[in-house]
Amino acid sequence: MKPESRFVELDKTRHERTSFDSGRDALNEFIRRSAARHREAGVSKTMVLPAQAAEGGKADICAYYTLSHTQIERQTLPSTLVKKLPRYPVPVLLVAQLAVHKRTQGQGLGKVTLIRALRHCLEINAHLPSYAVIVDALDEAVQGFYEQYGFQELDRHNSQIRLFLPMKVLAKLFS
Ligand SMILES: CC(C)(COP(=O)(O)OP(=O)(O)OC[C@H]1O[C@@H](n2cnc3c(N)ncnc32)[C@H](O)[C@@H]1OP(=O)(O)O)[C@@H](O)C(=O)NCCC(=O)NCCS
Repeated sequence: MKPESRFVELDKTRHERTSFDSGRDALNEFIRRSAARHREAGVSKTMVLPAQAAEGGKADICAYYTLSHTQIERQTLPSTLVKKLPRYPVPVLLVAQLAVHKRTQGQGLGKVTLIRALRHCLEINAHLPSYAVIVDALDEAVQGFYEQYGFQELDRHNSQIRLFLPMKVLAKLFS
């Protein structure tokens, strides 16, 4: 399973969704059943890194991420950050899903996928600003993956750990 060199938008006529297996059922089910429908409904966008495929055949998916909008309550942020924020929920970009196929994990693709997703967030932010990027880690094992790139814990709900990275910090990291 050899990845292509760039991410493209999920296209169910060109990408084989059913073979994707990250080892996590929720992330497998999302790409197999929901990602394309949610795009059609206008609620999120999924980008995939396809595997090289035979001419005319559908490509397996090595990795994917999904972006969406959401908002956070300002009081969930550390007090040092809330001063300049308005007194209503703050708009943020959500990396709603991010996963690498089991067969290509441990080769740096998780890092590549997260960096691509964060660059994508910066591009969106240039047109319509958002306060931060949010990710929901499925458990503490994955929390460490995000924390190594500067994400901090925001809160916990439904057994997931919500983490954030202020857009200003992200912009500096990529400048
Ligand atoms: C978590 C996941 C995206 C990591 O992808 P990957 O391709 O295996 O990771 P990489 O090879 O790019 O690793 C990049 C770095 O993250 C570290 N890392 C990988 N998985 C980690 C984890 N679960 N916790 C902490 N660090 C982790 C690696 O050690 C590596 O560190 P280094 O740069 O110092 O060597 C992948 O294992 C996956 O898809 N898991 C199942 C789905 C999932 O949990 N997705 C997260 C959404 S909540």
